[in-house]
Amino acid sequence: MHPAAKPLVFVLCLVPFAWLVYGAFTDGLGANPAEYLIRSTGDWTLRFICIVLAVTPLRVIAKTNALARFRRMLGLFAYFYVVVHLLSYSWFDMGFDIPEIAKDIAKRPFILVGFTAFVLLTPLAATSFNRAIKALGAKRWQTLHKLVYVIAGLGLLHFFWMRAGKNDFAEVFVYAAIIAVLLGWRIWNFVSKKRAPQRPSPATRVQRSA
Ligand code: HEM
Repeated sequence: MHPAAKPLVFVLCLVPFAWLVYGAFTDGLGANPAEYLIRSTGDWTLRFICIVLAVTPLRVIAKTNALARFRRMLGLFAYFYVVVHLLSYSWFDMGFDIPEIAKDIAKRPFILVGFTAFVLLTPLAATSFNRAIKALGAKRWQTLHKLVYVIAGLGLLHFFWMRAGKNDFAEVFVYAAIIAVLLGWRIWNFVSKKRAPQRPSPATRVQRSA
């Protein structure tokens, strides 16, 4: 992998955020800047979740193992955008009034679903470092990180519920289709690996021929 690849991807991931900050300082976020900020950070969270889910299929299909090195960074960017999303909502919609935020989470189901996705994403972000992987053990770490599918589903439900009020599902269906294809690929890959006849290991072959 080219040494500039990682810093380049890092900068690319920051472009949407930089664009929002620039828009905020130059009056470029439309008539309702708070709504624009909340919605676009929500969109970017869902996009990063889709991008993270696409890494393994792309790595396998394109036979480019180096892609795996970007997964952690992309996952942490999903977390970064959801934190900005949550902070934008807490600040611009709720004036950082914690009791009011708690009431709103309990009262509006679509907020509760989004908040649950955020809570579930937190341990994944917190255990994305090598020390955590070692401490948990690879197997437990992998099981924990399968939560990303639940998070993708909850993010989608949150989006669907929010758009249900407006009866506008076009974008929701696009994300649903992308996530369904990515999940479908994993299931297909898992099933075909299970079905494939196991080739005996070299050690077994030696024993058999002896
Ligand atoms: C993984 C977690 C989350 C994802 C993937 C996500 C994603 C989204 C998406 C895609 C939108 C719609 C943007 C659009 O209309 O273009 C949205 C809107 C919104 N989300 Fe989230 N979100 C998450 C977590 C949260 C959390 C934790 C909260 C607050 C506790 C929250 C509050 C909101 C609000 C207030 C809106 C805007 C509603 C409106 O304008 O009517 N979301 N979110």
